[in-house]
Amino acid sequence: MIEQRIKASIRDIHDFPKPGIIFKDITPILKDAQLCEGILDAFVEQLKGTEIDVVAGVESRGFLFGLSLACRLGVPFVPVRKAGKLPYAIKQKVYELEYGQATIELHTDAFEPGARVLIHDDLLATGGTVTAASELIAEMGGTVVGFSFVVGLGFLNGKEKIEPISENIVVLAG
Ligand code: PRP
Ligand code: MG
Repeated sequence: MIEQRIKASIRDIHDFPKPGIIFKDITPILKDAQLCEGILDAFVEQLKGTEIDVVAGVESRGFLFGLSLACRLGVPFVPVRKAGKLPYAIKQKVYELEYGQATIELHTDAFEPGARVLIHDDLLATGGTVTAASELIAEMGGTVVGFSFVVGLGFLNGKEKIEPISENIVVLAG
């Protein structure tokens, strides 16, 4: 099953990037082409029935499967980037982190008002990042029709945080 294969390929790195944190390293997954294909197959299968106009992938690890997923779905991919990276006109969202703030940006022409947007990221932790992305997308007139993640860290309750935005949450390995 895909969930077991993903879990078996994630490498736990203790005390990275700081003491007390267990970092979920997905790079071993990326070295397994067959598993990557399986991940994309699973996303497509679980998103059947969801009408999606555009996939928004969150920098940086949300780019890894985000573009491939958009190609599989036959829809555009747009990058949600960290501050100062996008060259064209942008709209931005500042959001709170545990310590301090972060900023994400989208090109103003990323999608048309009314577009049905799937937000993709590699990992759901607290849900703070994708919540900020959702707010930015909503401010730009898009409708978030779902979320997709390769991995979810259940103990951080990210699902509960994003359910009010959309209950259509695909997490391949919880
Ligand atoms: C990680 C991960 C998600 C986010 C999840 O990204 O890739 O984007 O954190 O956390 P949250 O649900 O608590 O918001 P990170 O900020 O480490 O950056 P990266 O993707 O550029 O490595
Ligand atoms: Mg990330």
